[in-house]
Amino acid sequence: MRNTWVSLIGKMLFTIAAFTMLLMSSSVRAQLDGEAIFKANCSSCHKPDKKVIGPALQGARENWAERTGSDEAIIAWVKNSQGYMKSSGDSYAKKLFEDYNKSVMTAIAVSDEEVLAVLDYVDSYAPPVAAVPAATGESAGVEEASDPTLWLIVIVVILFIVFRVLWSVSKNLRNLNRQKDGQDHIEEVDFLGALGQYFKKNQALTVIVIVLLSAYVAILGWDWLNGIGVYQSYQPTQPIWFSHKIHAGQNGINCVYCHNSVEKGKAAGIPSVNICMNCHMGVQEGKVSGTKEIAKIYDAIGWDADKGRYIKGYEQKPIEWVRIHNLQDFVYFNHSQHVVVGKQECQTCHGPIEEMDEVYQYSELTMGWCINCHRETDVTMDDNGYYERIHNDLVEKHKEEGLETFKVEHIGGLECVKCHY
Ligand code: HEC
Ligand code: HEC
Ligand code: HEC
Ligand code: HEC
Ligand code: HEC
Ligand code: HEC
Repeated sequence: MRNTWVSLIGKMLFTIAAFTMLLMSSSVRAQLDGEAIFKANCSSCHKPDKKVIGPALQGARENWAERTGSDEAIIAWVKNSQGYMKSSGDSYAKKLFEDYNKSVMTAIAVSDEEVLAVLDYVDSYAPPVAAVPAATGESAGVEEASDPTLWLIVIVVILFIVFRVLWSVSKNLRNLNRQKDGQDHIEEVDFLGALGQYFKKNQALTVIVIVLLSAYVAILGWDWLNGIGVYQSYQPTQPIWFSHKIHAGQNGINCVYCHNSVEKGKAAGIPSVNICMNCHMGVQEGKVSGTKEIAKIYDAIGWDADKGRYIKGYEQKPIEWVRIHNLQDFVYFNHSQHVVVGKQECQTCHGPIEEMDEVYQYSELTMGWCINCHRETDVTMDDNGYYERIHNDLVEKHKEEGLETFKVEHIGGLECVKCHY
């Protein structure tokens, strides 16, 4: 009778634990899916917490639900914003469209569940905590803010303690009863021993526990493997609020004016303070930040803006820009090869830089990303003397397949040694 009572509590606690674990592992998955869908379909125009080309998406679901009474409207909007605007006559949507200079949010082929998964992901998104800015070229890693494993451990520990307390309470109760009945104390087994016996007796449960635990570990391991070295969307705070939107966008300054080695060499290069001074000797004030940010340029180079001359004997301090894109040391990537020979646009790899107030990493920069493009992109061989012989050789080599145009893979773009030394 009393034993049943103990085992009942045991079973209840166990069920709770098992359910918690199931819920947690499935919520981890749901969140990841939302993130993946977001990155594949939305991140070119949206960030969860910042305005990019479209508005920040955090809180949008709630706003729309409050305004229209359900999630239907926002789902319809995401799937086909123009269609929604016309059919619903929603004045909020019209105004939003106007406010964003009539930039069209293209119709997107996603399911209702996928839209909700994205919106859930966005709402749960916490900005990555950038570690100490590593301006020295050290890879500044981004840590995930919340770790479900930690919660799982906390829950297991709490359950363990609760279980323990209940167990000794019940043992004492039983012993009290026995004392009353004039019997001897029993059960000198300790708690862990009892737990072990419990699991031995309930072998089915033991199996379930083991299966759940292994599944959970497998999921974590998989996510961890997938995440190694991937810092997409990395957006550190820079020492000066330098806006590409103002410079490359509104003022139309050519990328190469500042990144002046991009067509000549491996690295694109970050401009020195001297290049800023070409213009900022004159432009002393910005519309957004007034004189505050431009003053930092003067501070770096030692320019006295009031007197209009360089300060003599000033010890210059280079601006410590935080590096955003970071390939691992064992990868070889060459800008001029892609930009000049391969004729690739900066934006293909870096996204709409000219619309970013603050640059973020647009592409994954994984091996899969490089390889995909090498599989899909034609090599421009016309009007390129360098390729004439290679082209003829390739046509010869792929005669049976009848290939006339060639992808990067055909000129060796998938060979390990091309990218790895
Ligand atoms: C091509 C760029 C682009 C893509 C891709 C894009 N959006 Fe948008 N989105 C916009 C723009 C621009 C607006 C502002 C309204 C307008 O101009 O149509 C917007 C508005 C929104 C809004 C309304 C926000 C508010 O404040 O009410 C939501 C929600 C939204 N987008 C969700 C998504 C989701 C989810 C995806 C991915 C499945 C996505 N968008 C993909 C450009 C885009
Ligand atoms: C007026 C000078 C200037 C112009 C023009 C300019 N940039 Fe930049 N760019 C900078 C500076 C300064 C930084 C470093 C600060 C930052 O990351 O915002 C930078 C950073 C970058 C980065 C990130 C580098 C990293 O740390 O990984 C990319 C990518 C980039 N620029 C691409 C472009 C492209 C593409 C264009 C043209 C559409 C362009 N830039 C035009 C000055 C310029
Ligand atoms: C084929 C893809 C691709 C194209 C096209 C491309 N970049 Fe990059 N860019 C990269 C990669 C990959 C990195 C990281 C390189 C590294 O870490 O060694 C990078 C890094 C940078 C950086 C950081 C500093 C540096 O020199 O590494 C700047 C600035 C930059 N790119 C600017 C540009 C500009 C400007 C253009 C267009 C003229 C451009 N990129 C075109 C892929 C590309
Ligand atoms: C080719 C000319 C040119 C170069 C080079 C240039 N800028 Fe600018 N910069 C401008 C112009 C034009 C403005 C816009 C002023 C305005 O209308 O707001 C501006 C604005 C700014 C602002 C203020 C933005 C605001 O609205 O608050 C900052 C900060 C700034 N630049 C930093 C830099 C830095 C750092 C560099 C060097 C990496 C640099 N600029 C190089 C032309 C230039
Ligand atoms: C947007 C498409 C694109 C992406 C992304 C891209 N590449 Fe390329 N890559 C090209 C093109 C196009 C060429 C051909 C250039 C030429 O004609 O020689 C090329 C050529 C190369 C070559 C020379 C291959 C050969 O056989 O001569 C190397 C090495 C290379 N890429 C490395 C990389 C690495 C590393 C990455 C990822 C960090 C990368 N690429 C990402 C388009 C891309
Ligand atoms: C087009 C360029 C390119 C080619 C070709 C290429 N790799 Fe990579 N590889 C990369 C890049 C970029 C990374 C860095 C990925 C990261 O940091 O996530 C990488 C990473 C790796 C890693 C480290 C594990 C990882 O995923 O981070 C290994 C191992 C590797 N490559 C092996 C190979 C082998 C073997 C081949 C030939 C079959 C090959 N690579 C061909 C670009 C390339």
